[in-house]
Amino acid sequence: MSGAPAPLRPYAGQRVLLGVSGGIASYKSAWLARLLTLAGAEVDVVMTPAALEFVGAITFEALTGRPVHSQIFGAGNALDHVKLAKAARAIVVAPATADFCARAATGQANDLLSAILLAADCPVLLVPAMNDRMWAHAQTKENVAHLHKLGYRVLPPDEGMLAAGEGSGPGRMPEPETIFAYAGWLLEDHHALGGKRIVVTAGPTREPVDPVRFLSNHSSGKMGAAIAAAAWRRGAEVVLIAGPGNIVAPPGACVVRVETTEQMRDAVARAIDDADALIMAAAPADFRPATPASQKIKKGDGAPAPLELAPTPDILVSTIAARRPGAVVVGFALETTDLLANARAKLGRKELDLVVANDATEEGAGFGVDTNRVTLVGREGAEERLPLMDKREVADVILDRVVRLLDGR
Ligand SMILES: Cc1cc2nc3c(=O)[nH]c(=O)nc-3n(C[C@H](O)[C@H](O)[C@H](O)COP(=O)(O)O)c2cc1C
Repeated sequence: MSGAPAPLRPYAGQRVLLGVSGGIASYKSAWLARLLTLAGAEVDVVMTPAALEFVGAITFEALTGRPVHSQIFGAGNALDHVKLAKAARAIVVAPATADFCARAATGQANDLLSAILLAADCPVLLVPAMNDRMWAHAQTKENVAHLHKLGYRVLPPDEGMLAAGEGSGPGRMPEPETIFAYAGWLLEDHHALGGKRIVVTAGPTREPVDPVRFLSNHSSGKMGAAIAAAAWRRGAEVVLIAGPGNIVAPPGACVVRVETTEQMRDAVARAIDDADALIMAAAPADFRPATPASQKIKKGDGAPAPLELAPTPDILVSTIAARRPGAVVVGFALETTDLLANARAKLGRKELDLVVANDATEEGAGFGVDTNRVTLVGREGAEERLPLMDKREVADVILDRVVRLLDGR
């Protein structure tokens, strides 16, 4: 029986303290509380009195299934600021108002949330969100610079639509999904890939037939995006070279967008000279129309002329000379026949350390879906067949192997 794997709960049992201060973006933090809870975290929400003017504590209580804390004084919670600080594996304050940033930068402890920051010794992420003029103020800038000096991590605001009537500018709180990804970075036990540069490719490529049509494939880019996210969480500097599609890149990655296989090859060649690892999860087109038409091919009366195809460059083979000596190189083999024989052939021909082989005809594997069933084939010939897994779990297994290979160099 194939059976879909259970939903991932990567933060199961981890205590995350979500601080909410009183800004217009406070409502978005309800979704952040939800994302963290769905990922298995035990979320302790601490709201400033001002935050309670914007969103009710009951919303957070219902979403997290845990009591919400907001009072520093109160019978029965005299030492909450110390207990909550000690219990937290990570603290995220989102939104962090200008006022809250000022209090944190100057070590004030006049409400429960700011007192918790002083008592904490876990990683803390502050997510400032405010009007663009407040964000541009010299005092805010000085406060934020000082927060960095104190060791707090600060996720700068996005540029975009502000509160009603305030137009657009820098100050908007990043989307909860982005903050959630940073929480994953904070919760990572140790950043085993710290100081390493990893290049990942993802998605399909498109080869033009004429100005309005192209040849491509069903690759969604999910596998490559999951690898890039996992590498970034483990502390790597990540370059994600992505073909067209709705690929969700990890927030800390440098993303290079490409269209054709040739463009992907050129981007890879530029990126890999100082890369410690190259993980090629993209599905670049193997063929392209030999001479794309300069104008749209008309339907006409009869059948159009047959398409003449030409091979595209093999990205891994043609960039071997550009690799940094000792770089770990992982390739993917998506096949419909002779899976393992094809994977083994790729190992030598493309000078790879590891091939991730998957069969496009297997249920739950390959393109488009969130799961994959892969066999890892190592240079020394060892094969490891993994069960049906979420692509994010497959990414972690591949990165465990990459870490081991890098450690051995
Ligand atoms: C409607 C409204 C929206 C506000 N939005 C923000 C905001 O987005 N960012 C901010 O820094 N302050 C904002 N403020 C001001 C804060 O609520 C105020 O500075 C408060 O003292 C913050 O308290 P706290 O940091 O303890 O939560 C807003 C105030 C009002 C009335």
